[in-house]
Parts: sequence; structure tokens; C-alpha cells
Amino acid sequence: MITTILISFMQFSIVAPHSLHRHCIATQGTLYPKNIQLVMIDDVIVYYYNSSAEQEAVVPEWLNHPEGIEFWQEVHRNLKFNRYVMDTAVRVTSEHYNHSHDHFYQAHGRCGWKSDGTTEAFMSHAYDGKDFVSFDVSTRTWTAAVSHAVFYKRKRETDLEDLVRLVIHYESGCIRWLEKLLEFSVTVREPKVPAVSLFERPPHGNSKVEVTCHVTGFYPRAVQVDWLGAEGLPMVDGVNSGEVLPNGDGSYQLRKSLTVPQEAQDTQSYSCLVLHSSIAGNITVTWAPKKNLANVLMAIVIIVSVVLMLTVLFKYLVWRRAVAQNPE
Ligand SMILES: *[C@@H]1O[C@H](CO)[C@@H](O)[C@H](O)[C@H]1NC(C)=O
Ligand SMILES: *[C@@H]1O[C@H](CO)[C@@H](O)[C@H](O)[C@H]1NC(C)=O
Ligand SMILES: *[C@@H]1O[C@H](CO)[C@@H](O)[C@H](O)[C@H]1NC(C)=O
Repeated sequence: MITTILISFMQFSIVAPHSLHRHCIATQGTLYPKNIQLVMIDDVIVYYYNSSAEQEAVVPEWLNHPEGIEFWQEVHRNLKFNRYVMDTAVRVTSEHYNHSHDHFYQAHGRCGWKSDGTTEAFMSHAYDGKDFVSFDVSTRTWTAAVSHAVFYKRKRETDLEDLVRLVIHYESGCIRWLEKLLEFSVTVREPKVPAVSLFERPPHGNSKVEVTCHVTGFYPRAVQVDWLGAEGLPMVDGVNSGEVLPNGDGSYQLRKSLTVPQEAQDTQSYSCLVLHSSIAGNITVTWAPKKNLANVLMAIVIIVSVVLMLTVLFKYLVWRRAVAQNPE
């Protein structure tokens, strides 16, 4: 009873707080594309730009929406300007380090809702993969992560127009983008139902069976997976949970394994219970102990042997009779 209440409570708390991510990588030189730019909602790419391929891609549903085209123009202007800012950043930073070419400047901006419903935003930059500067939206200050970044922090914080642009974007624009994209993009909004399967690792040495519940293809990310034992109570001991991992197609997967105690292997069955916002109820897949496989195999071997022996005996008797009836 308590478990049921607890689990139904957990089911209602499965709400995904979405976030929008902006990524941009700028390089100088010839080895890599000059710019790669991505806009993602959670783990779903909704905008992609590759300067080498002259390739720009958006989630097409935006453009089907009446408001989408106007919105797209605004996003496009902003992202294009951002590439210019990034080209400048990689140029001045490479110059500062006396680097020639093929060094990377990366920016990651993020905004979203926290679980309490309030919003948050941040932005950080890296040079050659190492933290360089960050921008705190609430205090409107730049921080240098390394002493060589102080020059860049100064350059950005003394440009008041740039500061206002950043604050406006991260305090309101970014959240508005997130809201609009969630409204326009079916790909982002559409929940995907998890597929649940069990696989069993045969016991090795210690004769403990490990059963894994593989939950995959679901969206959004938030999911509840439990192993239920006797009387439907959630198991704690012997349960090993993986992390929720992106599948790369906008869906996620999670594995949760249960080590079945040896004494329970022949008698107790266990269920993998999955709760997800894409389904009204639950998905339950049950693992039942194999009814002593060795004994079943032994019985089959005995039956086959007996049938073989009887066949041989019958043929022998028929042959004996034939011989007796036709003596030479
Ligand atoms: C960008 O486009 C170029 C040229 O088509 C391609 O070789 C490269 O792999 C692309 N880079 C990324 C990160 O997509
Ligand atoms: C770059 O070169 C200049 C002049 O040679 C030198 O003063 C400066 O310290 C160098 N910068 C770095 C980061 O090594
Ligand atoms: C799971 O669904 C089944 C069938 O709809 C229901 O009987 C059971 O109570 C549900 N279990 C939980 C823990 O929600």
C-alpha cells in the first residue's frame, strides 16, 4: 500500500525541466571548419551550422509554424552575430598566445528552468579545451579562469553595448527562445515511449544471476525504473543503476541490473517497473526463475535415450521374426 502511494507520487514528480544550450566552436586555420554552431534543447539539436560545408540546418517544424519564420530570422541574426564575436575571440586569443593556427575557441551558453520553476543562465568559454572566461548573468561580471584570459575579460567588460546585449539575451531572450522552440518543435515536445527488455548474464563462479532491465528510446529524459521483489516491494540490495544516456537520436536509455541471490533463484520472480511521462500507467516486465533447467535437460536426454533403445529393440525383434519365418 505504502509502496503504491510512494510510486504514484514519484510518477507525478517526473517533470523535465527543459534547458536551451548554445554551442559555438571557432578556429583559425585550414584544418577544421572555421565555425561549428549548435543550438540544442536538452539533448536534441534544433539548429546546426558548419561553415566548411556551408551547411545550415534547422528543425523544419519551425518554418511550418506561422510565427516560426519571423522567429527564425531573429535567431538567425543573433547566431550570425555570435559567429562574428567568436571569430574575433579566437583571433585575439591566438594572437595573445602567439599561436599560429588551428587552435579552438569554444563557447557554451545555457538557460533554462530549475526544478522550482525559476530560471537560470550561464555562459563559459574555453580555449583549446581549457576553461578561459565565464560570464555571470546575475552579477553581470566576467571572470577569467586563467591569468592569460584577463585581457579578454577586460575587453568584453569594457564594451557596454556587448554587456547589455548579453544580459538581455540571457535574462529574457534565451528563455523566450526556449519557450518558442518547445512550442514549435514537435521533435522536442513529442514524448517517446520506452522499450523495455530484460537480459540475463549467466552465473560465473559465484553462481549469482544478474538480470539487466534495459529501458531505451524514451523522451523526455526523466524516467523511474525500479526492480520489484517479493510482494512488489522495490529492491535496494543487489540493484545497480547505470546513468541515463543519450541514444544520439533525441531519445535516451537506462540500464538497471539486479543480482539475484542464489537462494532465491529457483523460487522468487522479480519485476522491472518503468514509469515515464509518455505512458499513463507503467511498463512492467517480469523475470521468472527458469524451472531448474538442468533437470528439464536431463529429462529430455532420458526420454530420447529410451525412445532410441525401444526403436532398436523393435527393429531387432522384427528382424528376428523375419529370420525365423524365412529360414534360408
Ligand atoms: C563540416 O563540414 C565538412 C565539409 O563537408 C566536413 O568534412 C566536416 O566533418 C564537418 N564537421 C562537422 C563537425 O560536422
Ligand atoms: C608572445 O610574444 C610576445 C613578443 O615576443 C611576448 O612578449 C609574449 O609574452 C608572448 N606571449 C605568450 C603568451 O607567450
Ligand atoms: C502497473 O500497472 C498495472 C496494470 O495496469 C497495475 O495493476 C499496477 O498496479 C501498476 N503498478 C504500479 C506500481 O503503478
